[in-house]
This record gives sequence, structure tokens and C-alpha cells, in this order.
Amino acid sequence: MEKLSVREARLADAIGRQALLQGWIRTRRDSKGGFSFLELNDGSCLANIQVVADGDLPNYESEIKHLSAGCSVSVRGEIKASGGKGQATELHAADVTVHGWADPEEFPLQKKRHSMEKLREWAHLRPRTNTFGAVMRVRNRICRSIHDFFQEDGFLYIHTPIITASDCEGAGEMFRVTTLDPENVPRDAKGAVDFSQDFFDRPSYLTVSGQLEGEIYATALGKIYTFGPTFRAENSNTSRHLAEFWMVEPEAAFFELTDNMNLAERFLKRIVNDVLANCEEDMQFFHERIDKTVMESLQTIAERNFERLSYTEAIDILEKSGEKFEFPIAWGTDLQAEHERFLTEKHLKAPVILYDYPAAIKPFYMKVNEGEVENRRTVRAMDVLVPRVGEIIGGSQREDQLDVLTARMEEQGLNTADYWWYLDLRKFGTVPHSGFGLGLERMVQAVTGMANIRDVIPFPRTPGNAEF
Ligand code: 4AD
Ligand code: MG
Repeated sequence: MEKLSVREARLADAIGRQALLQGWIRTRRDSKGGFSFLELNDGSCLANIQVVADGDLPNYESEIKHLSAGCSVSVRGEIKASGGKGQATELHAADVTVHGWADPEEFPLQKKRHSMEKLREWAHLRPRTNTFGAVMRVRNRICRSIHDFFQEDGFLYIHTPIITASDCEGAGEMFRVTTLDPENVPRDAKGAVDFSQDFFDRPSYLTVSGQLEGEIYATALGKIYTFGPTFRAENSNTSRHLAEFWMVEPEAAFFELTDNMNLAERFLKRIVNDVLANCEEDMQFFHERIDKTVMESLQTIAERNFERLSYTEAIDILEKSGEKFEFPIAWGTDLQAEHERFLTEKHLKAPVILYDYPAAIKPFYMKVNEGEVENRRTVRAMDVLVPRVGEIIGGSQREDQLDVLTARMEEQGLNTADYWWYLDLRKFGTVPHSGFGLGLERMVQAVTGMANIRDVIPFPRTPGNAEF
């Protein structure tokens, strides 16, 4: 007897096969004719398979008639054509083995709909709901597409470190990694913390981005990408910020800002097309149950050419829009979520790439545009904004001139000696190079329509929340 997943067993070509199916009961319905219908789910797809359990099974009265949501079972039997709506097949049980009971008085996932907030309290059980099963299957598909896209394009997957001494974004929003005893911190003669007694001999942190290390490998191997967890200790309780999130960061040598934009656009289109082609059932669910606009906005990513606007042009549009924004906008300020939404949802109704941001609001590593007036100095930054999510990608061409880079670092109060290795890349065979970072969770939000970023990652880390 072969073991089949529910997904496999639901296909019409499974009819006539003897199979073993294993999973968790969603519902049980007893028929007047003395048999029961069990809805079985194993996470392989959104849909359940209907199990028909006859009254003459030896454990029918003692066990089967007591099954309820959450119980785990193995069912052996024959897959037959089903007359039921929305299903080609059903499983006629010859044997039902119960592995684990789930007391209906205690098991929280009963048939009624629970709010996303409530489900967050049950992070250990929510993967057994339709919504989280669908989110995780789509998330998995996106990760596969990410690797496929870069591998097919000749990018090498490079693992950059999680623990680092440098602050890539220069925003000071890093989690410290230390083995020092907080109650007994060693101090030097001047009273400062003596890091020479710490594990790494210096202040160290969880990485906010693998970019700086990625640049090292791109300027040797040509095209690389890194894909892993990144950490930000920013105290922002919003629906699109996490303290721990996954970022994919390609970096390429001999690559200018326009190449970078083209890559980002091709990349996002590829992910969306792959999901649409491979996750039809789950996408239908998101469309019907989560957000009616999700398909439409995915079509814009898949089909429309991304608009490209300079930051200065975008500010001009926002200033002339006549909209009443909560945060007033002017040249030199960063865009807030409301501005991003206006541009992508109202003004353009499409994804947009904004480029050439003011130098003062961007990190030290971005390439300075030459020949601009001093009070409007810009850098070759690019942000990709999509409807409903806003900024999904942040990237830039990197400063490749040693003197300009050194001056920028000093301007931003960085200790250039700490970045001697980064400066070496500009001293020895420097090249124009560029890259970007895509926040995986924001991509999952864009694709699924899930409103809150806490609901597209298995275990969200946000201020005050790291229980399990
Ligand atoms: O714009 P960011 O900060 O850019 C960088 O970190 C660059 N070093 C990337 C690079 O050029 N290699 O972050 C990139 C993306 C954002 O556009 C957003 O999608 C996501 O990472 N992101 C977050 N996602 C969830 N929670 C947070 N707190 C995030 N911060 C950034
Ligand atoms: Mg950014």
C-alpha cells in the first residue's frame, strides 16, 4: 500500500488505488445510514480529502464516532470517484488508526473563524489553519523561485555572517551579541565597557544586512546573492516591520544603477509568475478570503513595466497632489507609507522604482551623483514600491571611489579604521557595482494580500514578543 498525500489523492488519476493517508481531522459528520464522513487535512494542499468510514469498521463506535477537529489519524483504504461537490475523489476507509486525540473542550481551533490576533497567541497551532497552510506553501514557493531565478542567471549563493561588528545601514538599530554578564560588566580605568573581555574582543551584533560582506564576494566572483535572516532592533510596531526578517540580497560587479533596476524588475515578475503558475488553489483562497484586490495588483507586477521616477519627480507629484497627508512631504524628507501608497495605488496604480534620493537620508555606501548642487546632493539609490505594501526592495549602486567613500563615512560619523577591509575593495581593482535587498516577508505580503507581516512568518519577532 502506497502512502499518498492529500494533494496526490485528490487527483482523478488516483482513483482505484489502495492508499495510506495520514493527517489531522478537520470535521466529522455522521450520516443517518450508520457511517461517517471525516474531512482529513495533511498540509500538502488547502483542500481536505473526504474519508468515508463505514459503521462496520471494528473501532467505529469506540473511536471513529468520537473523532473531532485536531485528532491525528492514519487511514488505509481505496480511493474512489466522489459524487460530492468540489472533489473528484474520496477515500473509503478499510482501517482508521487514531494516533492522538484532541479534546474538543480544549482544542482551540474549532470550526468558527478566529481573528489573526487570536491566532498569533497560538503560533504553535495556527499552521493547522487554512490561512497559515496557504501562506507557508506560498512562502516556500517564493523561496524556491528566488533560488531558481538567481541560479539560472549565474549568481552564486554566498553565506554571509549572522554575527558582525559592522552596522551596514548606519542606523544604530542593532541587537548586541555578548557573553558579558550584564550584572557584572567589566570596565576600563575610564569606566567604559571593556570589550576585550567579551567573546569577540569587540562590540558585536546581529547583522542588519549581508550587503557589505556580499560586496566582498561580488568584487571577486562577479554575481552573488545572499539569502538569510537579518535583524533590526527598531522599535516600530507596524504591519510591515519585524525585528527578525529574511532578506535576499543580490550584488553584482560591473553593474550600474539601471542594470540593478532591470534585475529587480525581472526578479519580482519571475516570482509572481511562478506563484501564479504553481499555487493556483492557494491564490484563489487569498483572493476570495483575504483580499479581493490581490490578484489585480499581482497582475500589475507581472505585466506592467515598472514606472521609474527620480525622488525629485516623486516629491513634485506628491506636493502637487492636493492630498492631505499626515506627514507633510518636502524635498529632503523620507517617504512615509502613506506617500508610497498614494504613488502606487492612486497616482500610478502600478509598481514604481524611485531613484536618486537625497544623500542625507541614505547610508554611507551609496554612490554620490556628480555635478549636483550642494544643497540637493543625491545618491544612486533605488527603492521599489508596490501597491498595498509600499517599499519592498531597497538598493543602490555602491560608491566605488576611495576618496569619496572615505569622505562620506567621515561625514556620517563612522570610524573608517573599522571598515579598512571595505575600503580595500576600492583600493584594489575597484569596479562599479550594485545590489539590492528584497524583504521576503514583504514579498509574501504582496503576493498573498495578508495585511500584517506577523502573519506571513512562522514565528514573528516584534517588540515584546519572542515566546516561541
Ligand atoms: O532598505 P533596506 O534597509 O536595505 C538594505 O538593508 C540594503 N543593505 C540592501 C542591499 O542593498 N543589499 O532593506 C531592504 C528591504 C526593504 O526594502 C524591506 O523590504 C525589507 O528589506 N525590510 C524589512 N522587512 C521587514 N521588517 C523590517 N524591519 C525591515 N526592514 C527592511
Ligand atoms: Mg529601505
